Amino acid sequence: MELAVLIIGAGPAGLATAACLSQHSIPYLIVEREDCSASLWRNRTYDRLKLHLAKEFCALPYMPYPPNTPTYVPRAEFVKYLDRYIEHFDIQPRFCTAVESAAYDVPSKRWAVLARDTVSGAEVRYGATYLVVATGENGEGRIPAIPGQESFSGEAIHSTMYKSGRAHAGQRVLVVGSGNSGMEIAYDLASHGADTSIVIRSPVFKGVSKIAGNKVTFERTTKHMLNNDGFPKKGYPDHWKGEDGLYFAGFARRGLAGITMDAKNIASDIAYFADPVSV
Ligand SMILES: Cc1cc2nc3c(=O)[nH]c(=O)nc-3n(C[C@H](O)[C@H](O)[C@H](O)COP(=O)(O)OP(=O)(O)OC[C@H]3O[C@@H](n4cnc5c(N)ncnc54)[C@H](O)[C@@H]3O)c2cc1C
Ligand SMILES: *[C@@H]1O[C@H](CO)[C@@H](O)[C@H](O)[C@H]1NC(C)=O
Repeated sequence: MELAVLIIGAGPAGLATAACLSQHSIPYLIVEREDCSASLWRNRTYDRLKLHLAKEFCALPYMPYPPNTPTYVPRAEFVKYLDRYIEHFDIQPRFCTAVESAAYDVPSKRWAVLARDTVSGAEVRYGATYLVVATGENGEGRIPAIPGQESFSGEAIHSTMYKSGRAHAGQRVLVVGSGNSGMEIAYDLASHGADTSIVIRSPVFKGVSKIAGNKVTFERTTKHMLNNDGFPKKGYPDHWKGEDGLYFAGFARRGLAGITMDAKNIASDIAYFADPVSV
């Protein structure tokens, strides 16, 4: 299938980019490996979660929160907001489609993208002039290997699997990592009556994809590209633009405000450079 723009990932960054492209009347396709949009928010977050920043700093482009929204938007309301966003901008992701690799073809000046339909297992190929990687900074939950871990008889879960402290009342729980999630989960556990401790050392997150020259490989397949942390090689504020029509949305480590900036920059850039014939 030949496209002007292919967006990989239907989280907030992919959705925001889609909306911004629509504002410039640029056609795109958005593919998502899960069976729904914003899977992080629907399926991999805990019950207590609210947006950590006030709503003014957490709106996606062209759509403020309704006036009666609480200052710190609860997870369920954020999901509702995203659903309205999707409806308003008529975003129709192709779900259950996991991108495995993308290579830039110099003669045709196009990205050749290989994806897999996760339901049928079939290969799906796309050609695109512009490729927007919006696969998220927190792609995979990783539990680092700890020597002697196999001798631990308790349960060990990643924060993406944590829902509520209700299930842990009266248990002794160790939370490893003290970012926003670690701190809040420790608080949630303690307030549900778990005997909670927390270990503090900056956690290491790995991104989703790597880049070598003009080839992007997505996690779970090969590993060679982006920098070692899985972030674009160019740092903020230039992180969003790669070479050969490659863009990154949502890798500024600046949350939803960073996503909004990336999406607007990317769509304006594509609109500016877009060759009317190829778009
Ligand atoms: C617990 C938590 C709380 C947060 N709270 C805030 C907050 O209060 N305020 C704030 O500004 N930010 C917050 N953030 C940070 C950030 O805003 C969110 O992580 C946001 O969801 C990032 O959006 P994204 O679209 O970049 O990534 P994601 O939401 O991770 O979306 C990426 C999408 O890409 C899909 N995908 C990945 N790989 C592939 C592939 N190979 N092929 C196809 N699809 C793929 C994934 O399935 C996913 O749906 C929080 C993050 C976390 C983890
Ligand atoms: C994620 O949650 C949504 C709704 O809450 C559901 O429709 C979807 O099937 C879930 N997906 C996965 C992979 O669990």
